[in-house]
Amino acid sequence: MNKWWQTGIVYQIYPRSFQDSNGDGVGDLPGIEQRLGYLHDLGIDAIWISPIYPSPMADFGYDVSNYTDIHPLFGTMADMDRLMAAVHDHNLKLILDFVPNHTSNEHPWFLESRSSRDNPRRDWYIWRDPAPDGGPPNNWLSRFDGSAWEWDAQTGQYYLHSFLAEQPDVNWRNPELRAAMLAVLRFWFEKGVDGFRIDVSYRTMKDAQFRDNPPNPNWRPGMDPAKQVIETYTRNTPDIEQFNRWLREVCDEYDDRVLIGEINLPPHELVLHYGRSLDGLHLPFNFNLLFTPWDAAIIHQLIETYENVLPEGAWPNWVLGNHDQHRIASRIGPDQARVAMMLLLTLRGTPTLYNGDELGMLDGDIAPDQVQDPWEKRVPGLGLGRDPERTPMPWTAAPNAGFCPPDVTPWLPLNADAAAVNVASQRTNPDSMLVFTEKLIQLRRETAALHHGTYQSLPAPNGMLAYERRHGHQARWIVLNMTGEPKTWALPERGGGTAVLLTTASTVPTLTGDSLPLRPNEGVILSV
Ligand code: NOJ
Repeated sequence: MNKWWQTGIVYQIYPRSFQDSNGDGVGDLPGIEQRLGYLHDLGIDAIWISPIYPSPMADFGYDVSNYTDIHPLFGTMADMDRLMAAVHDHNLKLILDFVPNHTSNEHPWFLESRSSRDNPRRDWYIWRDPAPDGGPPNNWLSRFDGSAWEWDAQTGQYYLHSFLAEQPDVNWRNPELRAAMLAVLRFWFEKGVDGFRIDVSYRTMKDAQFRDNPPNPNWRPGMDPAKQVIETYTRNTPDIEQFNRWLREVCDEYDDRVLIGEINLPPHELVLHYGRSLDGLHLPFNFNLLFTPWDAAIIHQLIETYENVLPEGAWPNWVLGNHDQHRIASRIGPDQARVAMMLLLTLRGTPTLYNGDELGMLDGDIAPDQVQDPWEKRVPGLGLGRDPERTPMPWTAAPNAGFCPPDVTPWLPLNADAAAVNVASQRTNPDSMLVFTEKLIQLRRETAALHHGTYQSLPAPNGMLAYERRHGHQARWIVLNMTGEPKTWALPERGGGTAVLLTTASTVPTLTGDSLPLRPNEGVILSV
């Protein structure tokens, strides 16, 4: 019997940008509640909401100052309780974001830790003496620029921060810190949360000897400055499996919950996070489509590699977009957006869909004086900033697109094309990306071969990707033209199949003969 998180589709909501209900230009929990009908009709199964906890917002909620409350910007605990009940009433699941690698520097735990060297919570964070020259203890770099060590003059030591200095890393080797963090999971599980997405879970354990990371010989000026070193000792260290087990043991105290790890690693490294006896994370995120060139041969190889390294019994998953990466339609071009959606929703494993991608949203244009993301502010001009993919969800053609009242300034600007690319206008257009996505989701839901069948690649010419999904006698062929040229696919069996869904038209042709002509940027699902 498959679990909901295996057959289902996860939909990521970036809460600041989904729906503002109180006219402050920032999305909130009651706003999400208002849109549950939309999500239910879209056909997804679970929503994952990026952090909604109290936070000084140095990194827009990924700097948590209280793990068991709600930031007033997003609402109250009563709003959360109501949302959770409403999510469940809609037959959906609720996944929250857990940020275990670091807290805010304003979290009471850190305020105590930094207050003196002998504070009982000193060891809840990672404090080190200076190097002999007085500089940082080693060469570890922050993902957001510069040394990962911040000097604390009051206590004469450095503390570690893998991200901003406002996000000090906690020490998971300290049993009391660990117990306090695991209590957070229990708090939300008791409330009825169905699972967690675990922020940078693969970074939580660092080398116990604090060895220098080796230099990266391939780094050149103009590249992401954090990539000057290879992160041998700051991520995916051997005891990460122990970390995963700590979380899993708590999760297993409750029925039917899920742990999804944010892991940015190639297939052979990410599969370790399932655990040697599948006692780790249920779904270590597979981000490889985010970083693979949009080329059929390379993607074919990626799928084969991933399928081959998955441990027996481990459930796969795929991700095409999130709040940290430029939008898929901008990365590969709007013409390929539907092909990408067809790929995401027909591969074997749980898909995660980023809010707005179902409309084919592009990255927004952010003028220099509109920049919000701390990464772009620190390392400007390299395209690292994440505001473009975080612009508000366009619901209608009205000013501010129904995201917030017309006379309010939203926290990030609406996309310039919001009057045309929005839910209301796409809903009434049978050829829209939204209607296409809904049909694709519905087909996936009603077709066992697609939501839990096997995967087998099929021969395809250059520029095309073809594979079979099969469950018992039910089989579907997925044929994707990943180029802007017309292509022809030779059917593996004569007189092969019936087209059930195309990316390019709302009506499907009857197939004759033994070859399938595909238009540029066309994807087809065939029933065989
Ligand atoms: C990954 C999150 O997705 C990202 O938005 C955040 O900045 C870092 N982790 C730090 O928490």
